[in-house]
Amino acid sequence: MPYRTLFDFRLPTCLIHGPGSIKRLGEFLPVGQKTLIVTDPGLRAVGVVDKVIGALDAAGIPHACFDEVLGNPPAPCVQAAYRRYTREKCASIIGLGGGSPMDVAKMVGVLASHGGHVEDYLGAGKVISDLPPLVCIPTTYGTGSEVTQFAVLNNPKTKNKDPIISWKIAPRAGILDAELCVALPAAVGAPTGLDALTHAIESYTNLLANPISEAFALQAIALVSANLRLACANDYELEATQQMLVASALAGAAFAQTRLGNVHAMSHAAGGHFEIHHGLANAIILPYVMEFNLQARPEKFATIAGLLGVNTAGMGTRQAAEAAVAAVRQFNRDLGIPAKLGEAGVKAKAIASMAKTAMTSGNVAVNPRRTTLRDMERLFAAAV
Ligand SMILES: [Fe+2]
Repeated sequence: MPYRTLFDFRLPTCLIHGPGSIKRLGEFLPVGQKTLIVTDPGLRAVGVVDKVIGALDAAGIPHACFDEVLGNPPAPCVQAAYRRYTREKCASIIGLGGGSPMDVAKMVGVLASHGGHVEDYLGAGKVISDLPPLVCIPTTYGTGSEVTQFAVLNNPKTKNKDPIISWKIAPRAGILDAELCVALPAAVGAPTGLDALTHAIESYTNLLANPISEAFALQAIALVSANLRLACANDYELEATQQMLVASALAGAAFAQTRLGNVHAMSHAAGGHFEIHHGLANAIILPYVMEFNLQARPEKFATIAGLLGVNTAGMGTRQAAEAAVAAVRQFNRDLGIPAKLGEAGVKAKAIASMAKTAMTSGNVAVNPRRTTLRDMERLFAAAV
């Protein structure tokens, strides 16, 4: 498979790494001006917000907190966070948590610098001005939002999760501090870690992969393979947790260049139709799409098998590629992920509608194997 010879590789975010690195938060925010922490109520309850507030107090940065972000946030959540930002006269933003709070923080930044309504900025290239200083602090293993130019909005009008796409919304810094993730339950860590694995596999195998994005994606797959089970096993695996934060950022940096593939096209459509966790939907869908894509990238899927711990010595390329699918299914079983979307609340009667929605995603156009609406319906029928 020849590479595209013309490509960019962008990574504008400064990544700060290591247990305890939250102490450096103040370096990236304007001193003496109030910052808004955007987070979810769970992180407030387990004391993670207090650790961030401690770092801000030590740096002399006043703060306000919007802790009402729930999963799959819609526009009213973003508008409420933005009202808090203006009422408190904030000058910078912190996104703290999983993809939802980080993406809401990005969208608050868009409204702070552009005005209007968040739906006005859906799609590519609509955000043209710089945002207020934005720092993202991931506390799950998955989205990579701390390094990407994407923010995803749950859009009831399209029954889809629609992205804002602009490098202007990439955070100026991402802090990868495993001490903020020690209380992360496996029920959250497993699906978000498998979201990172999906990002890496989709980026590595899709039509826009380039030599630099591949390096990031391959290392992300290796790190997830070596660390996700351990990180989910108990609360004390600090090293594995730290490595999962690196894997997530690497996978995010890879797909920020290349976009993704059919798995995300399908999971966004499923998430727009039903209340299903993004990472859980991806984890369930991933092996079905890998089976579909195998014949377009057999060598790459064979490489993935090796990274997932399969001994491919003596196997032909096709057999090794199929072993990658089996390894992902085993990964899912080990982490308690169901085999079918139906077990996670997705109803078969919505297959035609979800397939139609999924086909509108830009991720289908970069999937390694050409996909028709009929193919998409079959993929959903298999996965539901
Ligand atoms: Fe994802």
